[in-house]
Amino acid sequence: MNHKQRLELTWIGKDQRPRLEPRILLEDPEKSYHAKTRITEGDIFDNRLIFGDNLLALKALEQDYAGKVKCVYIDPPYNTGSAFEHYDDGMEHSIWLSLIRARLEILWKLLDKTEGSIWISIDDSEMAYLKVLCDELFGRRSFIACNIWQKRYSRENREAIGDAHEYLLVYAKEPDVFKGIRNKLPLGEKQLSVYKNKNNDPKGPWRAVSFSAQGYRPNQMYEIVSPYTGKRHRPPSGSCWKVIEDEYNRLLSEGRMFFGKDGNAVPSRIQYLKDIEGIVPWTWWPHDEVGHTDESKKEIQALFGKQDAFDTPKPERLIQRIIQIATKPGDLVLDSFLGSGTTAAVAHKMHRRWIGVELGEHADTLCIPRLKKVIDGEDPGGVTSAVDWKGGGGFRYYRLAPSLLEKDHWGNWVIAKDYNAAMLAEAVCKLMGFSYAPSESEYWIHGRSSETDYIYVTTQSLTHEQLAAISHEVGEERSLLVCCKAFRTNNLDAFPNLTVKKIPQTVLSKCEWGKDDYSLKVENLPMSAPPPEPPIAQPSLFGEGE
Ligand SMILES: C[S@@+](CC[C@H](N)C(=O)[O-])C[C@H]1O[C@@H](n2cnc3c(N)ncnc32)[C@H](O)[C@@H]1O
Repeated sequence: MNHKQRLELTWIGKDQRPRLEPRILLEDPEKSYHAKTRITEGDIFDNRLIFGDNLLALKALEQDYAGKVKCVYIDPPYNTGSAFEHYDDGMEHSIWLSLIRARLEILWKLLDKTEGSIWISIDDSEMAYLKVLCDELFGRRSFIACNIWQKRYSRENREAIGDAHEYLLVYAKEPDVFKGIRNKLPLGEKQLSVYKNKNNDPKGPWRAVSFSAQGYRPNQMYEIVSPYTGKRHRPPSGSCWKVIEDEYNRLLSEGRMFFGKDGNAVPSRIQYLKDIEGIVPWTWWPHDEVGHTDESKKEIQALFGKQDAFDTPKPERLIQRIIQIATKPGDLVLDSFLGSGTTAAVAHKMHRRWIGVELGEHADTLCIPRLKKVIDGEDPGGVTSAVDWKGGGGFRYYRLAPSLLEKDHWGNWVIAKDYNAAMLAEAVCKLMGFSYAPSESEYWIHGRSSETDYIYVTTQSLTHEQLAAISHEVGEERSLLVCCKAFRTNNLDAFPNLTVKKIPQTVLSKCEWGKDDYSLKVENLPMSAPPPEPPIAQPSLFGEGE
């Protein structure tokens, strides 16, 4: 038996992993937007809308945001083979798995180490594969639930068995902690409607709930006598009362027992609406509670004047439910398949911070106008009135910087022409694991990795004298990594507080350069290993031709 064997899902290209360049993000101030005035003290402005491939974008966010995101929601292409207008959704299972895995790995790192959770929308085509993949990546103990969202409310007969639901797969970093922070849900219209107050009870609306429980517990088998009619009651067969007799007497004295209108009915307990903190979420998410696909189409119609502005939006109430369960105001929510911007819009209206990534042109044509409406308080629908949203806050719009290196005329990697000095310093800081924090007073401080360890990035060739001057300024208590184009000294040992490296040589092997497209497309499938040579013909056990 092979002891290395383990339970896992395999696919073509599973061993190959992209070696991602940690790009910097460039703000486009023309497209960033904020409210003209503050609406409340709690207005949030540091939200980010990022245009570009989400794998590179997530890698770009990794250094600054690892461990900081409370809730990731993604709604990736489902790999259903249908032709959508805005993106490639029909690809081999293997490619889909490789590409989704690369993204999930980074998303998991971005989550808050104790309270973070990831929520993934998926349908029947890949659900089973995605579950096994997530178990492998996140650990089976991190699995929370596979919720069923009822996306349709009427039958259709296009398929052998009509497709009425999707899944929401949920994993949490620390399932026990998640259970503790998991917020209860406010009661919906249907749940509220069962609480009535026909007798004008000063404690407000109430409902009667069963006072019996299945099973036999000797001290819960007492007789109850109706205080109104004297009728005697024993627990129904196979059951006992919910609580012991002392507790029953307390409830009775507080007027919390109900014996029907005529005082003769089987006793039940009175539950007041004011005592209900909310309901515990469960895996059944019906359309009347969280919306359906028609509702989301109507939201798109109200926002953009036409239903077909986007093919696959999610209803705002669905995202609201996720955010309600997994986060508190001020927490950071991330969606790296932002689509028409639903997650960002709902998170914003619920006073959460957000990051959204979108590769399609609809980052500009749909997400920006939608979020502007939200910020201006002109967002017509969705959860706007339910959460009492009045506008405010803002977002910054970013795009990914081009690759730091490009090939020159002779095929050598050189620093890309688009990079100015500030971009270069920021990019090299990121590559070398330093936080970019240029100093205003000392030209040689571009970033730091600790209180005493700094980095200096320059395209100059540094002479021995220049290095000596820098070394002198750094002093004995600090250390400095110098990344420069070249240096001229034959005695680097003279500067024990400096480590001097040449760029781009020193970063060349860190990742793959010049690759911009990691999007979900067939041509991005890594090449599989060539098929094994056919085995050399062995004499058949059963003789020739068998
Ligand atoms: C199903 S839609 C998401 C819809 C979204 N939940 C909404 O309510 O509008 C998937 C989105 O992911 C985007 N997408 C696909 N591949 C991507 C990639 N590699 N990087 C960023 N976005 C990507 C598509 O352009 C599409 O807008």
